[in-house]
Amino acid sequence: MEHHTETAQESIGSGSVTLDSFEDWTKTHHCNLLSKEHLDAEVILTGWVQRRRDHGGLIFVDLRDREGITQVVFDPQIDANSHNRAHVLRSEYVIAVRGKVRFRPQGMTNPRLKTGEIEVAVLELKILNVSKTPPFQVEDDLEANENIRLRHRYLDLRRPSMFRNMLLRHQAAQVTRSYFAQKGFVEVETPVLTKSTPEGARDYLVPSRVNPGKFYALPQSPQIFKQLLMVAGFERYFQIVKCFRDEDLRSDRQPEFTQLDLEMSFVSEEAIYQLMEGWVNELFRETRGLELKSPFPRMTHAEAMELYGTDRPDTRIPLQLVDVTDLMAASDARVFKQAVERAGMVKALRVPQGANLSRKELDDLIEYVKVFGAQGMAWIKILPEGWQSPIAKFLSEGIREELIQKAQLETGDIIFFVADQGKIVHDSLGNLRVHLAQQLNMVHPEHYNFVWVTHFPLLEWDHEEKRYTAVHHPFTAPMEEDMHLLEEQPDKVRSRAFDLVLNGTEIGGGSIRIHRQDVQTRMFRALGIGPEEAEEKFGFLLEALQHGAPPHGGIAFGFDRLVMLLCQSSSIRDVIAFPKTQKATCLMSGAPSEPDIRQLLELCVKVELEKK
Ligand code: AMO
Repeated sequence: MEHHTETAQESIGSGSVTLDSFEDWTKTHHCNLLSKEHLDAEVILTGWVQRRRDHGGLIFVDLRDREGITQVVFDPQIDANSHNRAHVLRSEYVIAVRGKVRFRPQGMTNPRLKTGEIEVAVLELKILNVSKTPPFQVEDDLEANENIRLRHRYLDLRRPSMFRNMLLRHQAAQVTRSYFAQKGFVEVETPVLTKSTPEGARDYLVPSRVNPGKFYALPQSPQIFKQLLMVAGFERYFQIVKCFRDEDLRSDRQPEFTQLDLEMSFVSEEAIYQLMEGWVNELFRETRGLELKSPFPRMTHAEAMELYGTDRPDTRIPLQLVDVTDLMAASDARVFKQAVERAGMVKALRVPQGANLSRKELDDLIEYVKVFGAQGMAWIKILPEGWQSPIAKFLSEGIREELIQKAQLETGDIIFFVADQGKIVHDSLGNLRVHLAQQLNMVHPEHYNFVWVTHFPLLEWDHEEKRYTAVHHPFTAPMEEDMHLLEEQPDKVRSRAFDLVLNGTEIGGGSIRIHRQDVQTRMFRALGIGPEEAEEKFGFLLEALQHGAPPHGGIAFGFDRLVMLLCQSSSIRDVIAFPKTQKATCLMSGAPSEPDIRQLLELCVKVELEKK
């Protein structure tokens, strides 16, 4: 018995479509499930019209739901009424069909589709809703402008690949919860309306109506609260938690993002590495069916900078930097000598078989490194007929010999040099290494190279603020053997912080924490935070540290980033259901928006915008 409940005006063409009620039907299968095993079965499918084709008196519809596609066919010989009504179907109409599974005619099978051998011959059609013409085809292969996708995110999420990403994210969260619960971790929710937790970004502030003039900060991480849970004796805490950071956005950063966050008492770095490797292994096994090589390699921060010029090296790329400072200081090349005299360094990057880069390509590479502050970049091509280079004439036979040994040069190679302050040299060559590897197809997309980077420096000098800032955060413990340098040579102090890097992306970072109040006070002092400011900002933590704080440590992973890499996606936005743009806006809802003036009055907040 058909129920015709409502009539909706069709947006395309003229006329109206009579809508049916679904109430007395029950969906029997998802659209990816039917195969020849279901021949002659009567089924009920629901979903969206992907495409309608009229062919030889029959109407074919690719019916899509979140799991896949089934071809349904309207045959006037089988049910004239449905065949007649099927003429109005357009892309993204919502329908339900009752029908019988049958083989597709010979020559009509589609091996690319899981259900490609069968079709469903419709006995009854229900049209549940109409749709405007979608602003883009709801299909994976079609490149739609990302802004249009974000504006109509509910349509974008209808694309099979987007649902697959969200499903994988869901599975990753399930695996995570069960892994940590099994290891004795307790999931605890920490506050969202809170005080500032410094993680190096700006805070999002929320005005308090009942405390006029006062603001909450949204947490950059649950860092302080998870430490307090250790003081509380919880021993093992974890949480899959939203964090908020007002910072410049990139393809792997969002203003609100999710961490897998955890903390443990009575632990060493070693225990954390093993625990996290077990989890990452399980994630890859359960969501991708991949077995990873464990244990993951480790390198110190100093080694990472030395060999790769970055603290997040992509170790899939078989290129390393070579320090040639001493060698070049002894050459006749003025730029090199001058850089070394100015307390700089000279490093080189050898690219095997890179000698066939054209002059134009070399010029582009030189422009590329200038973005990172390099004044220029020298190069030498090792050709069968000799060295070709603007600087070869400054290098004596002896220096050439040593360079060949040091950089293991072979005929056909090119070697690049940058001479400058350490940071510029590392930024330039470190980025050039990744850029060239992409250009020359040196990176295997199916490889997953993990590396723990350990022994980060505790502090770094902030030139703008003219004071030291914490490289990880102010609660990270200094290494015991470097502690005596904290006051005299703060930049020489190594910390007990570590990162896990996957294919050049930092996916997690953690540390052993300061659990002694006296050390935490010294750390604040080293950061230029006086006793009053420390009391005002972190008094509750300093106080807690005096109430029997156990030694503890922990780590947080960028959950979105990890899922992004698991999905082999290049953008974090592809694994977040409703992400923000690079300008931190939501194109769909229009957030952020101007508040109602009454709201502002209630909050005692006055907004003054400079007229541009
Ligand atoms: P950290 O600041 O290193 O450490 O953050 C941990 C991980 O979170 C991810 N991440 C981000 N992902 C997406 N968008 C962002 N804007 C963003 N910022 C960070 C990264 C990073 O490795 N409380 C400490 C952890 C600890 O010490 O236990 C913390 O938050 O993958």
